[in-house]
Amino acid sequence: MKTALVTGATGGIGRLLVRGLIERGYEVIGVGRRKERLEELKSYGNFEYITADLGEDGAPKRIANALRDMGIERLNILINNAGYALRKPLLEHSDEEIETLFKVNTLAPVELTRELLPLLGIGSTVVFVISGVAFVNVPELPSYCAAKGALHYLAINLEKELGERGIRVMRVYPKQVKTEFFTRNNVPYPRGSIEPEKVVGAIIRGIEKGKREVFVPGYLKLLKHLPNWPAFTYRFKY
Ligand SMILES: NC(=O)c1ccc[n+]([C@@H]2O[C@H](COP(=O)([O-])OP(=O)(O)OC[C@H]3O[C@@H](n4cnc5c(N)ncnc54)[C@H](OP(=O)(O)O)[C@@H]3O)[C@@H](O)[C@H]2O)c1
Repeated sequence: MKTALVTGATGGIGRLLVRGLIERGYEVIGVGRRKERLEELKSYGNFEYITADLGEDGAPKRIANALRDMGIERLNILINNAGYALRKPLLEHSDEEIETLFKVNTLAPVELTRELLPLLGIGSTVVFVISGVAFVNVPELPSYCAAKGALHYLAINLEKELGERGIRVMRVYPKQVKTEFFTRNNVPYPRGSIEPEKVVGAIIRGIEKGKREVFVPGYLKLLKHLPNWPAFTYRFKY
C-alpha cells in the first residue's frame, strides 16, 4: 500500500488532493486544524488524519510522532500544501501575525520534511505547493509573497539535499485559485481565478511523470522570464 501525507487537507486544493490520491490507491493521511472537515474526508475511503496547527512551535515533530504512533513506516508522497495569506500592509501586521504566517507558509514545510526523513526513502516525492507570487509581487499580500518567495528558494536547495538521498522534490506554482484562500480574507475570487481541480490534476500528473516543477496553468512558466528588479508587481482585478 502506498502512503501519502497532505497538509492543508481541509482546504480547496488539499481536499481534492486527498480524494485524487485515494482514487489512485493511496492510503492518505491529512493534516489540518478543522477536525470536522478532516472527519468528513473519511467518506472518500482510505483516510486518516492528524489535527495540528502548523503555526505552533513543535507541530512538525508532533506530526512525525503521531505518524509513528499510527504505525506508518514509509511515506511515498509528502505534499506540503497548507498555507494562507494576510491581506494587509506589512506595517499593520502584529509580531505574532507575521511570525505565524512565516511559520505556516515557509518554515513548517521544511521542518516537516526534515522530521519525516526517516519515513521518506528512495523513490519518495516531496511536493511544495508554492505560488506564482514567488516570482511577482502582489502588494495587497506583502507578507505572503515574501513567505512564498522564501519557500521557493528553500525548495530549490532541498531538491539537491533530498536528491542525494534518492528523494525527489516537485515545486508547484499555481496562479489564483477559487478557494477559501480569498474568502478567508473577505474578498471575491480575483478575475482570472482557476478551479482547484485544475491545480490538483496538474499536481497528480506531475508526481506521476516525475516532474521537478509544475506551473498551473502551464503558461505561467513565462514568469521565470520576467524582469524582476526590484520586483515585478501584479495587482489582482476584482
Ligand atoms: N488559492 C490560491 O489562489 C492559491 C494560489 C497559489 C498557491 N496557493 C497555495 O495553495 C495552498 C492551498 O491553498 P488553498 O487555495 O487550497 O486555500 P484554502 O482553501 O484556504 O486551504 C488552506 C489550507 O491550509 C490549512 N492551514 C492554514 N493555516 C494552517 C495552520 N496554521 N495549520 C495547519 N493548517 C493550516 C487550512 O487548514 P485548517 O484551516 O483546517 O487548518 C487549509 O486546509 C496554500 O499553500 C496556498 O498558499 C493558493
